[in-house]
Amino acid sequence: MKIGIMTRDGNGWCSTQLRKALDKKNVTPICFSYRQIIGRINYTPEASVNKIDILQDLDALITRPIGRGSLEEIIFRMNLLHKLERSGLLIINPPLAIERSVDKYCSLTLFQEHNIPVPRTAVTESHDEALKCFHELGEDVIVKPVFGSRGVGATRITDPDIAARVFRTITFHHGVLYLQEFIPHKNSDIRAFVIGDRVIASMHRIAKNWKTNVSLGAKPVSLNLPTELESLAVKAAKVIGCKVTGVDIMEGPEGPVIIEINSQPGWRGLQSVTKTVIADEIISYILSELKA
Ligand SMILES: Nc1ncnc2c1ncn2[C@@H]1O[C@H](COP(=O)(O)OP(=O)(O)O)[C@@H](O)[C@H]1O
Ligand SMILES: [Mg+2]
Repeated sequence: MKIGIMTRDGNGWCSTQLRKALDKKNVTPICFSYRQIIGRINYTPEASVNKIDILQDLDALITRPIGRGSLEEIIFRMNLLHKLERSGLLIINPPLAIERSVDKYCSLTLFQEHNIPVPRTAVTESHDEALKCFHELGEDVIVKPVFGSRGVGATRITDPDIAARVFRTITFHHGVLYLQEFIPHKNSDIRAFVIGDRVIASMHRIAKNWKTNVSLGAKPVSLNLPTELESLAVKAAKVIGCKVTGVDIMEGPEGPVIIEINSQPGWRGLQSVTKTVIADEIISYILSELKA
């Protein structure tokens, strides 16, 4: 059996963990990047990478971060995944789930439609309208890139003059303005790691400021997640369609809210505070899906 790992760096920490977990199960890992793939139409193989016929030779495909790219590159990568999935390849996470979670507007609207609590959020292309929303949201907002990740580019704004300037700058560069009410969280939040319909591990992330991303230095602290929050995280994963995912939960003054869901999560920080071998869990899940 062979399982592909779509990754920019096959020697990265998470990919190495996945390769080891596959080795243990006697499955051959094949690492490659999007750039190496050829998609063919009206002749075969329909998708190949080096000498490998993706649809014939691979039993499943694990997607690691899709990376940055032009609109054309990203849309091609997503359509390639959709094509492979239509042709019967098991892809974790499925392309639709990647699209839904990468776009914070898309995921938060879906959460709200399914009664999953989220912070009040406003999204617009207009800096003037954004300024109105800044006041609506209580003049203490987080402005984030709609497609951002790892806390990069998120800013807290409490001053209307700074808000006006920042909003103008973002629209000048054709960015979409994503404004969210600030949730007081004492510099800590929760990351729940969901595989299938289970939370397999979770942690508190304790930071020195309001950004609790581990990649920005927040400290992982082990956590036994209360059942209600487990159910919430699993429901969030289901609504988006993610099979392996990191769900960010904040405990606000009015109860828990989901801030985002990550379809291509890292787990190095989480692994340091749990005995569960996360890569083994991911691979066992994929193998069970292949049998089902
Ligand atoms: N509405 C908010 N109120 C307070 N802190 C927030 C809010 N939204 C995000 N944060 C903080 O910023 C971090 C990054 O935001 P997040 O939405 O998770 O985007 P990213 O994709 O960059 O991780 C979160 O982990 C959290 O610590
Ligand atoms: Mg996050």
